[in-house]
Amino acid sequence: MKRYKLAVVGATGLVGRTILKVLEEKHLPISQYSLFASSKSAGTKLHFMNTDYIIQELNEHSFDEGFDFAIFSAGSETSKKYSPIAASKGCVVVDNSSAFRMDVDVPLVVPEVNPEEIQNHHGIIANPNCSTIQAVVALKPLDDKYKIKRVVYSTYQAVSGAGRNGVIDLENGIKHYMSGTKDKNYTLEKFPYPIFSNCLPHIDVFLDNGYTKEEEKMINETRKILKKPDLRVTATTVRVPVFNSHSESINVEFEENFHMRELQEVLKNAPGIILQDDVKHNIYPLANNASGYNNVFVGRVRRDDSVASGINLWVVADNIRKGAATNAVQIVEKMCKE
Ligand code: A2P
Repeated sequence: MKRYKLAVVGATGLVGRTILKVLEEKHLPISQYSLFASSKSAGTKLHFMNTDYIIQELNEHSFDEGFDFAIFSAGSETSKKYSPIAASKGCVVVDNSSAFRMDVDVPLVVPEVNPEEIQNHHGIIANPNCSTIQAVVALKPLDDKYKIKRVVYSTYQAVSGAGRNGVIDLENGIKHYMSGTKDKNYTLEKFPYPIFSNCLPHIDVFLDNGYTKEEEKMINETRKILKKPDLRVTATTVRVPVFNSHSESINVEFEENFHMRELQEVLKNAPGIILQDDVKHNIYPLANNASGYNNVFVGRVRRDDSVASGINLWVVADNIRKGAATNAVQIVEKMCKE
């Protein structure tokens, strides 16, 4: 069997470290790994695959030695600068940032939803936004069966989605509260307001139309991945004081009628989904339970009686795993099998 060379860029970050964990779990046919980060971490060690790897500083020559694949998770600016260099040297980049997601020649891939797009790459494949990934895993089987007409997203997003500094803000908020100080001012590393004991309807920057960029990403990426450019879709994205795993309320309207039992079977049998829907026994997806898993958990499936054919869903997934690291590794895994 052919064996490949893989580079991980941003290996020291929250997503980067989870990429390494998922790679350890998956046993892909990879014979050589190289781990890159910024000058800050260059020379430090990361224990991975029973070996101490030295972190290398990313630079223009990092891809000269010829990699088959690179997973980038070091922010948009790093991706914009270095992904084209890697691609020009024959390396296929799976990019976790938003830099290329809406480019027409860059496939935006969720392996359970549109794996066929992988083969259309020109050196770069984009990993969608975390909140989009879990949503489309749930929506795709329903669209195939009942044709989705409209989607309304409301998200409850964990601080880990904002990187290490997001997690630090919540930890500091808890410490500040426990210390009993009345003073509400303490240093915030990431968010514009304290995230502890708060919900911030503000993820990424605000746009001229009043939406946030996160909301715009969910709308545009859903249309691109489901190949429904005219889909009516709207979103409100909210950061909540949860350490890990995003929760989403999704309201879906269909063109066709459905039977609830059949629709639940469709979800139950769909790739990547675990249906947790037994409200008589208080069974529904929870952020704490989803953390550490690669699946998308779906529950609270119920008819929306305000429209002719519609439902409400509660969809939860580990945003660092399925929303980023796992999805990227799954794309590499598919390419190893091609
Ligand atoms: P470093 O740890 O050296 O700063 P997070 O989103 O959790 O903060 O992680 C961001 C990741 O991206 C880290 O691994 C970080 O490395 C890496 N990174 C940030 N800027 C660069 C850069 N200019 N070149 C390479 N890696 C970078």
